Amino acid sequence: MSNFTEKLGNLAVVLGAQWGDEGKGKLIDILSEDYKLVARAAGGANAGHTIYLKDPENPEKKNKYVFHLVPSGMLNEGCVCLIGNGVVLHLPTLMEEIELLNNSGISTDERILIADRTHLVFDYHKLIDSLQEEMKGDKKVGTTKRGIGPCYTDKVRRNGIRVHELLNFETFTKKYNENLEMFKKMYGDFEYDTEKELSELKEITGKIKDWIVDGAYFLHEAIKKGENILVEGANGAMLDVDHGTYPFVTSSNPSVGGISTGTGIPANKLTAVIGIMKAYTTRVGAGPFPSELHDDLGEQIRKTGGEFGATTGRPRRCGWFDAVVGKYSNIINGYTDINLTKLDVLSGLETLKIATGYKNMKGFPADQNLLENIDVEYIEMPGWPEDISKIRNYEDLPENARNYVEKIEELIECKITSIGVGVERGDIIFR
Ligand code: GDP
Ligand code: IMO
Ligand code: MG
Repeated sequence: MSNFTEKLGNLAVVLGAQWGDEGKGKLIDILSEDYKLVARAAGGANAGHTIYLKDPENPEKKNKYVFHLVPSGMLNEGCVCLIGNGVVLHLPTLMEEIELLNNSGISTDERILIADRTHLVFDYHKLIDSLQEEMKGDKKVGTTKRGIGPCYTDKVRRNGIRVHELLNFETFTKKYNENLEMFKKMYGDFEYDTEKELSELKEITGKIKDWIVDGAYFLHEAIKKGENILVEGANGAMLDVDHGTYPFVTSSNPSVGGISTGTGIPANKLTAVIGIMKAYTTRVGAGPFPSELHDDLGEQIRKTGGEFGATTGRPRRCGWFDAVVGKYSNIINGYTDINLTKLDVLSGLETLKIATGYKNMKGFPADQNLLENIDVEYIEMPGWPEDISKIRNYEDLPENARNYVEKIEELIECKITSIGVGVERGDIIFR
């Protein structure tokens, strides 16, 4: 184990600390060399976690992998991946992802487990997601249309269907049909190919039935054996249904609370909570974004940072680092470590800004109207012209880059213990 992972301890959590897409996938891939059990806790195929690896046959070439449902430890041999009960699972998407991995030479055999209490996403959830967005008109959330909201709604409405129910396909089918009937009453008699979905699910059930485990019990046993466990969060703190920019949020708890409910791991077992923060801010979909850039600079950061959604391909909105968000997210999640990502993207900018406060306001306001008309206070810091992507020691970073990192630390009140300087596995500075 590296010094870094030793300090993190045997049960570390990786969380998105802003509005998602901070670079969770990359760090999880790096850490899964030491954590041979990776458990995903929340979200569904709304997530897109990207990992780039050097092509083993051609070091000039990088291969890109995007994980939506498969936990991001899958590229590390010997790492077992559990889909936790807090995830909402669209099985055909999972199978497609697995097939893609297998076709590129990565064996997933005996490496994927699914918690029995995981709720299933059906195609009708996706359909309802789109219908609800249409009905909201200009108030739409800009969801990923992956059926996330409607599936979590079923869960709390108590008519959701969980993975273990597939094992009795007859009663499963009955419940599935009852749900469909209810939705047709709610949304009008939409066209739907029940037979196709059911026959596909029957076939998938045959393949996955041995992957289904009691998630909490499985993790409990692993903890007792002293195994190193990494919990993979999805989405981001500001998309949290309780603490985020409601109603422009996802329908689950991507913050630390969702880690315990989404896996069955008690909170007092966690040894580290790593928040991933981009060195600037991005957001996909609608909703408040106080430090958003609406000018050419925003466009430039999008281009340099490759800021296009890993799930939907939508251009991400870009803006300055917002320390109000950073501090708020730290208050909610209690980070032990921050991984600041994409610092390399800011190289070459003459001046950098950091949002340090909202005028006449304390903390991050709940009121969406307030947020949309907010007066943001910034500090300015000089940038650095150097390419930093090859740097591996903190002390070798240009002074202005170190000043930028240390100013963020001071404002968010948490130590930045690692810094991303490029897309590949090795492109990271551990402090
Ligand atoms: P996730 O959803 O949090 O896993 O993040 P995404 O994969 O959606 O988006 C992050 C993007 O930034 C991906 O394309 C990563 O390859 C890339 N990335 C991650 N860390 C760094 C970094 O330190 N520097 C650069 N240039 N790119 C990074
Ligand atoms: P990762 O794990 C960025 C956003 C959507 C939308 C809102 C609700 O890759 O960081 P949903 O489909 O969940 O109902 O959409 O939340 N969103 C994300 N944005 N990264 C994500 O995941 C996201 N997951 C959801 O764009 O604004
Ligand atoms: Mg993403």
